[in-house]
Amino acid sequence: MSSEANGVVQAPAKKLRVMSGMRVTGRLHIGHYWGALQNWVKLQDEYECFFGAMDWHGMTTAYKSPKEIAPWTREMIAEFLAWGVDPEKVTLFIQSRIPEHIELFMIFANLTPMGWLERVNTWKDAVEEMKANDTHNLGRFAYPVLQAADIAIYRAHKVPVGADQISHLEISREIVRRFNNLYKAKLPEMSHLLTEIPLVPGLDGRKMSKSYGNTLYLTEDSEKDLKKKVNMMVTDPARVRREDVGEPTKCSVYGYHKLYSSAEDLQWVEAGCRSAGIGCGDCKGRLAANIEKISLEPREKKKELLNNPGRLDSIIDAGCDKARKEAQKTLEIVRSSMKW
Ligand code: TRP
Ligand code: SF4
Repeated sequence: MSSEANGVVQAPAKKLRVMSGMRVTGRLHIGHYWGALQNWVKLQDEYECFFGAMDWHGMTTAYKSPKEIAPWTREMIAEFLAWGVDPEKVTLFIQSRIPEHIELFMIFANLTPMGWLERVNTWKDAVEEMKANDTHNLGRFAYPVLQAADIAIYRAHKVPVGADQISHLEISREIVRRFNNLYKAKLPEMSHLLTEIPLVPGLDGRKMSKSYGNTLYLTEDSEKDLKKKVNMMVTDPARVRREDVGEPTKCSVYGYHKLYSSAEDLQWVEAGCRSAGIGCGDCKGRLAANIEKISLEPREKKKELLNNPGRLDSIIDAGCDKARKEAQKTLEIVRSSMKW
């Protein structure tokens, strides 16, 4: 489309490129949705987007059970599509299908001083955990370098992240800057696209994590499973009996209502909880119903995609082809600036 101003036809502004990905670690939970996916669906209209299922990143920790990675990856793509990522608007890909990620990773690995990786702010805490679960390995260590390559391979300008992740992007930018300086190249220096990410606690109020067994999957298999999980949720401990008053802000059920329920329902919870006018069972029932309302269609869509592997494959193949062409173009630019 072109716009006409003062009789002059102007070329349309070129959309900025956004790249993001999700590490393949198993089924998606609602934290993945509120942390990234719902935002991707918004970004797809405004930017030229590349979104990926990052199975190489998954492999850094799941290397002992690689056979699980492929089905998880397919399910992840089905989930993206079910929740509104549009393959006509977005280039949707699987990281390991684009070998150029790894080639650029290796080029970047050579110009990344070890000290940069050691100084990544989350690293020190992670080391003990990694030793404990046998993921204290070179691949895991180099995670930020691969991430830099993921972004640079599509010459992306923007990466959507929450406030706590801004520093992670810093190392990507440093790597690209070093590359540009060394080889007089002009890969875009990526920057963050700050996104507000709501806090999504686990069913027990702790951090939502597969290892705690406190996750609500993004698409529970059935309404029954969804209800069962919501019923398991921990409530304000002050409400022991039905007639005890509670404080919604101390309760994860209320936290979820804020994500899934209407303003009217929120008021109903606030007033009812503080006056003991409603019971926790009522409150959870309403929440489950509201989540179900939103999940019904995506659940069906996801099932349909997984039951029609041909259709899902053709969407994946088309996305990977598009991504690969762009990645190859970047690698040509990279090699020619390196005179290699
Ligand atoms: N680290 C991201 C996650 O944990 C996944 C990821 C890999 C990514 N490469 C990326 C995100 C590049 C943004 C840009 O889900
Ligand atoms: Fe939590 Fe709702 Fe019970 Fe209040 S009424 S404690 S918000 S579940």
